[in-house]
Amino acid sequence: MAVDLLLKNGKTVIGDKTATQSVAINAGKIEGIYKIGSEPASREVIECENLYILPGAIDTHVHLRDLKLSEKEDFATGTMAAAAGGVTTVVDMPNSDPPTLSRADLDEKIAEAQAKRFVNIGFYAGVPKKPSDFDHEMVPDILGAKVYPHSPLVKRVSYTKPRMEACLKISAEYGFPLLIHPDASSPSAMPESLDEYFHLHSCENEVESLRRFLDAQNKVGGRIHVCHVSCASTVRLVEEHRAEESLTAEACPHHLFLSGDGFENIDGTAKILPPLRSPYDASSLWDAIRRCTIDIVVSDHAPHTEQEKHLPFLEAASGIPGLETTVPLLLTEVLQGRLSWVEYLRCCCSAPARIFGLNDKGVLARGYDADIMIVSVEESGISGESFVSKAKITPLEGRRIVARPVKTIVGGVLVYDEGKFVVGRGVAGRVPVRKT
Ligand code: NCD
Ligand code: ZN
Ligand code: ZN
Ligand code: ZN
Repeated sequence: MAVDLLLKNGKTVIGDKTATQSVAINAGKIEGIYKIGSEPASREVIECENLYILPGAIDTHVHLRDLKLSEKEDFATGTMAAAAGGVTTVVDMPNSDPPTLSRADLDEKIAEAQAKRFVNIGFYAGVPKKPSDFDHEMVPDILGAKVYPHSPLVKRVSYTKPRMEACLKISAEYGFPLLIHPDASSPSAMPESLDEYFHLHSCENEVESLRRFLDAQNKVGGRIHVCHVSCASTVRLVEEHRAEESLTAEACPHHLFLSGDGFENIDGTAKILPPLRSPYDASSLWDAIRRCTIDIVVSDHAPHTEQEKHLPFLEAASGIPGLETTVPLLLTEVLQGRLSWVEYLRCCCSAPARIFGLNDKGVLARGYDADIMIVSVEESGISGESFVSKAKITPLEGRRIVARPVKTIVGGVLVYDEGKFVVGRGVAGRVPVRKT
């Protein structure tokens, strides 16, 4: 019996070694990896000579912005950006308009996402005003709950001790992680100067917020996933409390590759929360990746319109696009010898799958979902103008990269091929991605 698709003569990575092999795909799954000459017959063949065949990245921190914020991004443009960036699964954050707080909110997103998808899309929910009202009907279709103590999804909520404990009880009850944006600053604070702004969102506030949630976890249990760790001091706190799946953490490329020093903060180009920190903080994040204190790297793709970014710093929107730069930047580290293949594959593929329970994803091996990217080694510069995302302003503009995803396959379907989308919307990818 012939298989559906053969990716022939590509460079695959096993452990820290590369080998020239072929990957067979059948019925949306990886059928096997074969030595040259011993491949099964196939209905279609893609020649991959000199190209890497790698698992697609799983980006578990993405703001796709549909429904009412679709001038910033929507499920189509966001997942096209993902495919162009080698990302085959994204998980959408609940700070949308409307926020994802009920089964009805979630159903509206799922319907829209199913119609527009180019890759797999999973979802998180927020926690309602009364945590005991958490809509348990969402549970089968979400991968976790997300909280923003400095900017709650519902008005007039504050992250008191009882609320933090209630959030962790939800996590304990349903066995999914509570994702935390650690920031102890007051939601009502209105900084009037850059100094006040950076003081408000300081490393001290990042650490203090996480410390409070860890105390709550100590009392009631549950799992914590720390979003976008940005400070050396936060890395140390995570390290002290590390315990397998009950505490996991992520870092973002902008905090790894950039520091505040390089920017004059005249407009919103580099405005992001948490803010860009010092070169020392950035280097401690890299160390944390090597020690597995940081489990995963995610983009925190947070698109805004050009008008919202090109404003004086204090007035500009916070957030930058990242779906099209995360994989090329990290692969550049690998190809230039600063990050190992094992570290890359763990941070971008296998560890996100493990943390969020996507057991069929994140590994290029027999039986896993055929979510694959094919990568060419060639040098270019990051150019926001060429992004597929609606958001085209990036503080990483001009940075050299030596890897480019050239083809992206989702569930065995070729979606993206050399800059072109070769299927329509709603054809490839699963929505919602569920725990398996
Ligand atoms: C995010 C956004 O725009 O939704 N902004 C940001 O600066 N990171 C929110 C967030 O992830 O905290
Ligand atoms: Zn955040
Ligand atoms: Zn403690
Ligand atoms: Zn975010």
